Amino acid sequence: MINQIKEHISEVEKFTSSDKDAIESFRIKYLGKKGLFNHFFSDFKNVPNDQKKEFGQIVNQLKAVVTEKVTTLKQALEDEKLAHGVYGDLTRPGEPLNLGSRHPISIVKNQIIDIFSRIGFNVSEGPEIEDDWHNFTALNLPEYHPARDMQDTFFIQTAPDILLRTHTSSVQVRYMENNKPPIRTISPGRVYRNEAISARSHCFFHQIEGLYIDKDVSFADLKQTLQFFTTELFGKSEIRLRPSYFPFTEPSAEVDVYWGLETEADYRMTKGTGWLEIMGCGMVDPNVLTNCGIDANEFSGFAFGMGIDRIALLLHQISDIRLLSENDLRFLEQFKSAL
Ligand code: DAH
Repeated sequence: MINQIKEHISEVEKFTSSDKDAIESFRIKYLGKKGLFNHFFSDFKNVPNDQKKEFGQIVNQLKAVVTEKVTTLKQALEDEKLAHGVYGDLTRPGEPLNLGSRHPISIVKNQIIDIFSRIGFNVSEGPEIEDDWHNFTALNLPEYHPARDMQDTFFIQTAPDILLRTHTSSVQVRYMENNKPPIRTISPGRVYRNEAISARSHCFFHQIEGLYIDKDVSFADLKQTLQFFTTELFGKSEIRLRPSYFPFTEPSAEVDVYWGLETEADYRMTKGTGWLEIMGCGMVDPNVLTNCGIDANEFSGFAFGMGIDRIALLLHQISDIRLLSENDLRFLEQFKSAL
């Protein structure tokens, strides 16, 4: 029996493996509950007395060599992992990085910000949960003013003065309350209206508001600014301003850009006219300046507001506004090559 154990010892000494499972089976074979060590150990009682000492030593030696072997092999495995684990096989071809993409709303928003920042406009923001004063009253839309109906509003039921802003014009008010002219700012953000969701309208969308207040600002300045903008964004410089009405501007206008009638899509988009409406604008009503603490005798200015979603649909030929908020990767991944 002693010879048998000695053979095992020499076998253990020869054993080597770099496989985690093989090392574990090896350990179990010797040191497991039903392993050889326990097997020999339980034979101890049958060993003649004069051999007990030698037998005991040799069984313990078996245990010691197995333990040492297992520890060494496991350590080698760990070392190997450390040496190669960090970089892996350096000759292996790299795995392609899956690039994300910006959302089309962000792409178009950034383009617009970029254009206006080149002519000195900064970016300002305001809260989406707004109060009546900033969204309506200060903008010359007092309570019960019929023009409030132009924008179906989500009110907060328990706080009648609080609402989800219906336009980014609210940020004009906040900006004028906190800054002195000259003011040149654009305010991008999300707005909400209680409208039925369809391919063409949604209950939330995005706008960019523009505001320019200084001494002697004229309607001609407004026209020039807008023409610069449409040329930069669409590559189209022909615009027309149609008289319109907004309570916060006087006079007010709607801006159309001449898109052209080259393709079938152009006919569809412009309803056969070649013209596309892209924003509202006007000279800031003196009442609004006064409401915001700016001397209307000293300063004048213009404002404009446009829908980012609408412009994104136009620029990227997207047929349904709902695609912009559905987070469908098949749609979003198409913008990988954009800015
Ligand atoms: N706030 C308007 C809207 O939501 C858009 C607008 C029109 C903004 C004229 C303006 C403006 O600043 O001058 O429809």
